[in-house]
Amino acid sequence: MKFVEVNNSNKDLAIKLQAILFPSEKSPKQVIRGIKTNNPKNFIAYRYNKPVGIVGYYFEKNLSDHILINWFGVLKEYRNKGIGTKILKHLISICKQRKENYLTTYTDKFENSESVNLYKKLGFDVRDYVNVDDIKKFSNLGVKNNYVICCYKLKKCEDIEFEKLNLKIYEDLMEMKNN
Ligand SMILES: CC(C)(COP(=O)(O)OP(=O)(O)OC[C@H]1O[C@@H](n2cnc3c(N)ncnc32)[C@H](O)[C@@H]1OP(=O)(O)O)[C@@H](O)C(=O)NCCC(=O)NCCS
Repeated sequence: MKFVEVNNSNKDLAIKLQAILFPSEKSPKQVIRGIKTNNPKNFIAYRYNKPVGIVGYYFEKNLSDHILINWFGVLKEYRNKGIGTKILKHLISICKQRKENYLTTYTDKFENSESVNLYKKLGFDVRDYVNVDDIKKFSNLGVKNNYVICCYKLKKCEDIEFEKLNLKIYEDLMEMKNN
């Protein structure tokens, strides 16, 4: 497998992959911002010189110990061949070279059950989002209370503060509501 950082020369491919894998969330702006600022930093994953998936990571000011997983997906026709595992292991190894303590994401445990299984398999601590009442405020956005937080320790460090991560989901939902 080969991982190529997204830059001006391959941005159209990155945008296309993102739109195929996440049709409801496609955001070319985010790919362009990543090229300009390195936040998010995105990669295209190639297998035998064919693009098969994408992955990325980003940082947020109020979660300084965490690296957050950005778009992560494998094209349907290449799934269940171990590619997702390789991509995630590659991401973990890049992130271990950095100073942050945790690699973190959250997702829908039913819609994205494959990824939740994969996170568990690779040693992520997976917990339900607990502020169930908050979610009701976002029901008009089609948000269901199916979130799980997936967090991986990149080094020996303090226990994961899941409360803080719950807040991160809440803030993201607020942002979505206000946009
Ligand atoms: C999640 C995803 C990246 C996995 O990619 P993949 O290349 O199929 O993953 P792998 O072949 O390495 O499978 C790894 C593990 O995923 C889980 N998994 C994969 N397909 C699964 C399925 N159909 N049902 C249940 N678990 C599954 C298993 O734990 C599997 O490990 P195993 O083979 O030892 O049982 C892929 O399904 C995908 O792109 N999904 C849509 C986008 C998405 O949900 N992204 C994550 C958002 S957080």
